[in-house]
Amino acid sequence: MAHLLVVDDEPSISELLEISFRKEGHKVEVVSNGQAAKRRLAAQIFDIVISDICMPDMNGVELLQYSKEVSPSTIFILITGVPTVDTAIDAVNFGADRYVVKGDRLLDELRPAVKRIAENQALRKEAGELRRQLRRFTGFDHIIGASPKMRDLFDLIETIAPQSSRVLITGESGTGKELVARAIHENSSRAKAPFITINCGAFPETLLESELFGYLRGSFTGANENRRGLFQAADGGTLFMDEIGNMSLTMQVKLYRVLQEGKVRPLGSTEESDVDVRVIAATNKDFAKEIAEGRFREDLYYRLSVIPIHLPALRERREDIPLLARSFLDRYSKSMNKKIEAIEPEAMRRLEVYDWPGNVRELENTIERAVALEASPRISAEALPARIRDHYQEAVSQHSGNGNGHGDGSILPVEGIDLEVYIQKLERSFLLAAMERSGGVRTRAAETLKMSYRSFRHYAKKYGI
Ligand SMILES: Nc1ncnc2c1ncn2[C@@H]1O[C@H](COP(=O)(O)OP(=O)(O)OP(=O)(O)O)[C@@H](O)[C@H]1O
Ligand SMILES: [Mg+2]
Repeated sequence: MAHLLVVDDEPSISELLEISFRKEGHKVEVVSNGQAAKRRLAAQIFDIVISDICMPDMNGVELLQYSKEVSPSTIFILITGVPTVDTAIDAVNFGADRYVVKGDRLLDELRPAVKRIAENQALRKEAGELRRQLRRFTGFDHIIGASPKMRDLFDLIETIAPQSSRVLITGESGTGKELVARAIHENSSRAKAPFITINCGAFPETLLESELFGYLRGSFTGANENRRGLFQAADGGTLFMDEIGNMSLTMQVKLYRVLQEGKVRPLGSTEESDVDVRVIAATNKDFAKEIAEGRFREDLYYRLSVIPIHLPALRERREDIPLLARSFLDRYSKSMNKKIEAIEPEAMRRLEVYDWPGNVRELENTIERAVALEASPRISAEALPARIRDHYQEAVSQHSGNGNGHGDGSILPVEGIDLEVYIQKLERSFLLAAMERSGGVRTRAAETLKMSYRSFRHYAKKYGI
């Protein structure tokens, strides 16, 4: 909640503000003149100052200037009993964040403004906290994650990186297989030697063979010079063989032999040479199935998977979503030179509920796109692609029991959720949606939600709507 400073020489006003904002959970200090206010502003950082304009010792506009000077991030609201065009213009010119006329509606005007400011501050603080967490958990280069599953992964990487054993990384597309392979290399004694990547799925068989093992001039048409293969290029370092599941069976036999003997023979050569390469392989295929159906050799599989690492899908560790989303927000708002500070709670909720078939890559692309599209300082739900927004609606209607959901709790994250908090968030968003649809007419909003006006009022008050 926010820290407020109320400045007014009229006790009736300052008491009214003090009592009502305290009741809403804010921390409120009251002073009755401009000099006292200056002293407080010099000693403390306030989130919001609400100050009268006409005070005996000082004009509120002067205090406003002082406040903007010593504490630019503090929100300054001017209130006045005698509105004049001149003071209103001064207020705007000197950067008042709001200008409110005293009277019966004073509180009605101030309350939502203060509430919004407090929420904004809270959001900013939360973002700061998450950024700190982020730094703590980016031990492995750029792998972000704080979920138990990711922490186990970091432990595992730390343990196995220094050895030279082969690693087989499995996991859906976009879960970070390449990132993990790189982290293993960089935390090994081979870190100074090359890390070379080859996408085994991208080459036809003969080309893959010459890429991996090299060739001598004249060994096939087009071989105009001797060329080293990637195994030799990676000597002393790490060769990351991506999409190994797409390798042909004949190539699998050849690779098996290389791994078995630690020697490669370039095409067209009769001599073999020793290579010292750590192989890390990756696939998004299900090996058990590939082996059972005869597309992958079991002996090669055992050679490759001395240490198997399985990367969990993003939907199995949803608690990492906010952390990842914010770090991508940081990254892309910086690179696109945009000042986007936060992701609105509405938007974040949608990100957290979505299933992410493309995993972290899809989340990264989503945030990049949202940053590019967003014109305001915060990512709103509207900046998200329709599939993500729609999924949220489906999830919501499953929860409310009147959708045609599967009823198998498929959107329930494996790690569980805080049901009470979740339901409150849902209630609040439904109330807001109903108000939006009814154009702000409360009775109609209550009807839409099939509740009495009385209970609608109760909820509206509870959620500050
Ligand atoms: N834990 C993570 N923290 C930060 N960025 C991540 C994380 N996991 C994945 N990424 C990012 O997501 C993108 C995809 O990661 P990567 O290429 O490693 O996935 P992959 O598992 O190899 O996918 P594919 O099977 O499609 O090749 C990259 O831009 C990567 O930086
Ligand atoms: Mg990859």
